[in-house]
Amino acid sequence: MIPPELLNVADYGRAAGEALTPDVFDYYDGGALDEVTLRENVASWQQLKLYYRVMAGVGPRDLSTTVLGRRVSMPVLVAPTAFHKLACPEGEVAAARAAGRAGTAFCLSSLSTTAMEEVFAAASSPKWFQLYIYKDRGLTRELIARAEAAGAEAIVLTVDAPGWGNRERDARNGFGLPPGLTVANVAPVGKGDFPQVQGSGLAAYVRTHFESALSFDDLDWLCATSELPVVVKGVCRGDDARRSAEQGAAAVIVSNHGGRQLDTAPSTCHALPHVIDQVAGACEVLVDGGIRRGSDVLKALAMGARAVLVGRPVLWGLAVNGEEGALSVLEILRRELEEAMLLCGYAEAGQIDRSILSP
Ligand SMILES: Cc1cc2nc3c(=O)[nH]c(=O)nc-3n(C[C@H](O)[C@H](O)[C@H](O)COP(=O)(O)O)c2cc1C
Repeated sequence: MIPPELLNVADYGRAAGEALTPDVFDYYDGGALDEVTLRENVASWQQLKLYYRVMAGVGPRDLSTTVLGRRVSMPVLVAPTAFHKLACPEGEVAAARAAGRAGTAFCLSSLSTTAMEEVFAAASSPKWFQLYIYKDRGLTRELIARAEAAGAEAIVLTVDAPGWGNRERDARNGFGLPPGLTVANVAPVGKGDFPQVQGSGLAAYVRTHFESALSFDDLDWLCATSELPVVVKGVCRGDDARRSAEQGAAAVIVSNHGGRQLDTAPSTCHALPHVIDQVAGACEVLVDGGIRRGSDVLKALAMGARAVLVGRPVLWGLAVNGEEGALSVLEILRRELEEAMLLCGYAEAGQIDRSILSP
């Protein structure tokens, strides 16, 4: 049951602001530099118009679809986001359970505060592992092997973070993990803690440990290293997406990391059509960034995305009410998508097409 005062995703965002300490809320909410891309991610979906069809005789709606060959109950998946135990004590396990109860895919971040084995054991829906390539290739290989052994069904390679976006809120707050929380997947090999620095401890961690000279050779390496489908996350250009597909990616995610990396990168709503055109069916195309309403999901599908992912909305749900809160947020998006489909004249998610975006 959704509490009446929490009607939509934005309500959860506001309530999360009250539930979290300011430094954690800033870490979750903020973006790079002037946060232009962060704002435009949300605004661009809102500004797109829907030329709805009337008298379409729509009865019950079927929102389900497949992603990487697996059926999900709706085209809204959970994006990888770091450090869920900052939001609630059960952390990533709560998020994975919520995704499972919603019947949708869950992507676990490399930077989780719970070890992947524990999270994947609790996940009952398709589970993906998001990978940052560590400078230490042996360690990276080990992470992939552990993800495979723990039941991950895809490796999501994040490619928009060769360096760390300068999130000035985090720098001002000296963002770090409180005592007791670590980057759990790599804590056993001594890489679980942030360096002690002025400014953002996370930014220092990334500079110390992550591969900065990421190239398409690394995609080849990953495709050769893992049996699992590889998803390339963080493209905004058609040519990069096309090349990713040609080099073996099963899917690309049009994403600018929620406006947290290169500020003034285009909103994902603006980038998506170019990617769809150039990929031309060579792999699946997903999108994330600024999805806050079911109608945003419908617009992304209309452009040709197979599904969307949501990052902050799930974190806000966790912050407000743990697993139940994350589930509520996903159910709000489901209900809104269902309503938008009815009002637009679609009975099935698979019918949604570009025609709805023009008169
Ligand atoms: C707090 C936070 C942490 C994130 N951590 C990661 C991460 O560890 N790996 C990754 O690939 N993307 C990460 N992202 C980006 C998300 O996967 C996703 O691209 C973004 O949140 C989508 O935008 P939205 O928050 O507007 O839905 C993070 C985003 C946020 C807000």
